[in-house]
Amino acid sequence: MDALYELTVIIPTYREGENIGAMIQAVHEVLARSGIRGEILVVDDSSPDNTIPAVRALEADFPDLRLVVRTSDPGLSQSVVEGFSLARSPVILVMDADFSHPVGLVPRFLGEIRAGADIAIGSRYTEGGGTENWPLGRRVISWGATLLGRLLFPEVTDPVSGFFAVKREVVEGAPLRPRGYKILMEVLGKGTWRKAVEIPFVFRDRKAGASKLRGATILDYIGQVWDISLFAISRRRGAAWEEFGKALRFAIVGCTGILVNMGLLWLLTEGAGIYYLLSSIIAIEASIINNFVWNDRWTFGGDPAHQAKPFAHRIALFHAVSIGGAVINWLVLFALTEFGGIYYLLSNMAGILAGFIWNYLMNRNLTWRKG
Ligand code: GDD
Ligand code: MN
Repeated sequence: MDALYELTVIIPTYREGENIGAMIQAVHEVLARSGIRGEILVVDDSSPDNTIPAVRALEADFPDLRLVVRTSDPGLSQSVVEGFSLARSPVILVMDADFSHPVGLVPRFLGEIRAGADIAIGSRYTEGGGTENWPLGRRVISWGATLLGRLLFPEVTDPVSGFFAVKREVVEGAPLRPRGYKILMEVLGKGTWRKAVEIPFVFRDRKAGASKLRGATILDYIGQVWDISLFAISRRRGAAWEEFGKALRFAIVGCTGILVNMGLLWLLTEGAGIYYLLSSIIAIEASIINNFVWNDRWTFGGDPAHQAKPFAHRIALFHAVSIGGAVINWLVLFALTEFGGIYYLLSNMAGILAGFIWNYLMNRNLTWRKG
């Protein structure tokens, strides 16, 4: 069965009267030039300006243009999700109406999906991407939001991008809870996908009109990250769940390392009669090797991409990171006890936690960095 369209371009709009006409023309031209059978789906939230008449005026000339006017539950994410359910093609692309997302890249998104990606993400934060004319405040907010999102999806450099394409199966039947601006996070967190690729692009500030981003969207976003985390834990599947799984396995391995360290220190000192400070050096090294082997085989073993670096390189990096973790542990213990007046065993727990976070993130992104 041949679908009517290969691609649906969803353009959510609110008060885009000044942009939408030119936007439709530009998208249509790119699709035609690339020989893509595409539909343009404008999802509007009853804009009070010229948006609706501007689209209607083009409908006669563009048979592949469709306008949906929503009248309840307004919102960018809600509009995109409604667009998902109305799309009649195997691939769906989402982009802004204000020319912030370069129209000329649309065929590349389809190309990546055809080549096997489930999700193609336009990224501002990968090599070749960027932002233009952004005030400092907006840069800081975007940077914070991106960092938080990367805790859930470390492979994705721009998990809050508004410019992305997905196979329809990714979102079909997914329990999306649309709110706020960050619909891509919701798709990454609740959709069914394996392979995401990124396409760098430079975000250009809107040509006409003003951004509708508000302070409340920040709180919305934090709530969304929380919601996706709970979802991942309850479903036990998906990219975010795999990340939690890795961190948990890493923590378990860390506990076996403590056992090896303690056990060997006792054995060598009491059993073999070796001076305890010498025993300790052997015990520490044994625990580092123990942890390395388990992490290499188990924590990061499920995905061969994590073993892109040669074995000798991985084990050397693991040692370097472990030394760094020990120093951080020690510094936190020292600072909290000496300057914070905290009981030293409690300080040490904070130190162990800080060392753990360091060890996990550094090893995840360095030692077992995907090739
Ligand atoms: N239907 C509908 N309903 N569309 C809306 C609404 C709404 O309530 N609010 C905004 N839009 C449309 C705008 O018309 C535009 O096409 C697009 O959604 C993005 O809105 P802007 O107001 O231009 O967003 P921005 O430039 O601040 O934010 C961009 O960056 C974010 C990442 O930093 C967008 O690309 C977001 O999608 C992106 O998440
Ligand atoms: Mn914009």
